[in-house]
Amino acid sequence: MSTPATIMLPAVDRAAAVTETPLGRLTVPAQVLPERRVTVDLTTLLALRDAARSAAANAHAPYSRFTVGAAAIMADDPQRRMIIGANVENATYGATICAERTALAQAAALGFRRVELLAVSCTQALDAPLADRSPCGICRQTIAEFASDDPPTLVLVDGGGADAIGDLLDIDRLLPHGFRLR
Ligand code: THU
Repeated sequence: MSTPATIMLPAVDRAAAVTETPLGRLTVPAQVLPERRVTVDLTTLLALRDAARSAAANAHAPYSRFTVGAAAIMADDPQRRMIIGANVENATYGATICAERTALAQAAALGFRRVELLAVSCTQALDAPLADRSPCGICRQTIAEFASDDPPTLVLVDGGGADAIGDLLDIDRLLPHGFRLR
């Protein structure tokens, strides 16, 4: 069963602020994004979110006890399988890898390069504000590495209360001013 839905990602329109200082021009960059209409299949979205939630059960998180799961569908995977990940911590702390990156590393290792949908579930923080359950900066940059415009990469952050699916972001809204190498 599929349940298609059209979702409007709102426009962002923030002008730059330029200050001429005695030591040079200082710019707070603009952020301008047109409104974007995306279609999602809600049945797939919910199944992916639930796969992310379940994957968190496999987290290796003995240090933080903060379990995270992720699940991705890759646009270039003809089977459109749900590729899962969980955070894997390390005694050195710095060697820890987040759930989103274990999922995307697995997808890349399977040969896929274009992420269509990625769900992330911070299962200890489902009712918390977005910042307490959304991808970290390194993960945002990793998602951007495999992002595509068509179909647009969409990220679902699980949570927001019992009657909520979660928060939906495209890459421009997830990682403004992200780095790219030309
Ligand atoms: N973590 C993730 O796996 N994904 C996120 O988006 C945020 C943080 C993990 C890393 C670490 O194992 C634990 O959550 C606490 O930071």
